Amino acid sequence: MTKILVTGGAGYIGSHAVVELAQAGFQPVIIDNFSNSQESAVAGIEAILGTAVPLHRIDCGDAAALRQVFETEKDIKGVIHFAAYKAVGESVAKPLAYFQNNVGSLLTLLEVMKEAGVENLVFSSSCTVYGVPDALPVTEATPTKPASSPYGRTKQMCEDIVHDVSGAPDNQIRTILLRYFNPIGAHESAKIGELPLGVPNNLVPFITQTAAGIREKLTVYGTDYDTPDGSCIRDYIHVVDLAKAHVVAVQRLLDHKASDTVETFNVGTGHGNTVLEVVHTFEEVSGQKLNVELGPRRPGDVPAIYADATKAEQVLGFKTETSLADSLASSWKWQQTLAK
Ligand code: WQD
Repeated sequence: MTKILVTGGAGYIGSHAVVELAQAGFQPVIIDNFSNSQESAVAGIEAILGTAVPLHRIDCGDAAALRQVFETEKDIKGVIHFAAYKAVGESVAKPLAYFQNNVGSLLTLLEVMKEAGVENLVFSSSCTVYGVPDALPVTEATPTKPASSPYGRTKQMCEDIVHDVSGAPDNQIRTILLRYFNPIGAHESAKIGELPLGVPNNLVPFITQTAAGIREKLTVYGTDYDTPDGSCIRDYIHVVDLAKAHVVAVQRLLDHKASDTVETFNVGTGHGNTVLEVVHTFEEVSGQKLNVELGPRRPGDVPAIYADATKAEQVLGFKTETSLADSLASSWKWQQTLAK
């Protein structure tokens, strides 16, 4: 089976990608330092697959340890690089940690891939690179804007690094950059899902924890935006759909179908939903009435962003399949499993 290294493979998106890779016939190999994930996620993956998955407990920024993995695992044919810190607010408080980890681990990975002759990379980027877009929906040609956080800047820097490395005369690495929108939901088995450590930054885990009584109330950050109901608009994509996009991207690279050494794709549903629509949809699918407070805007929030998902559909043949309602239902099922 074709071996694919998944850095951050015990994380929220990484764990779902490991499952989809294995079920598509690949041999995933997990690298994770568990700085922002839990070993229980690996147990959940193995329970879904019914088999063990090779795991290396190392930091991607540790070149010697990473070299050792490439040597031990021998015939790695591609890498999906998820490992990164991803909390916008935290990045403002800890910029050095974000640059060191998010940028440093990519630099180390590219160096070791070059030494090992591994040529295929899928990189976890983010719609954050668009900043506050002038027009919606955003396409891959929409100019990136100055990021509003160190986290967003690390994603922009990583994309630039990939482009520069790919432009070097001796470069052999082909990369697909996937710009995620807002991942939500959990695997239908409820054996893996989002495990926010501490108080959740993101909307959906905060909603499910409020519904579960862990949080006293949900605050909607701003209802005076220029949107249909005044709350922010985002493109909420089910995490399994997002994981499947990575399998398609890896296969495209392995089949040498990429039209350029770097290809970029938005990975979203192509639809926008407001925060209040998410809240109301959750209440409908869960039967739980949320304690909601309409609060002030959160600094740094983009008023509205959602994807033009045409390119992924036309070039990758990828299209999301899961509705907002079904995504939220899977989040609620996962939260209820956690409570047990
Ligand atoms: C969504 C909307 C909030 C919490 C960030 C990163 C992005 C990705 C996902 C990593 C916003 C509102 C939230 C709450 C609320 N991270 N909200 N009450 O900020 O769009 O994206 O996380 O890949 O790169 O930028 O996601 O879930 O934090 O917020 O009203 O308690 O929900 O204001 O409008 P965001 P989010």
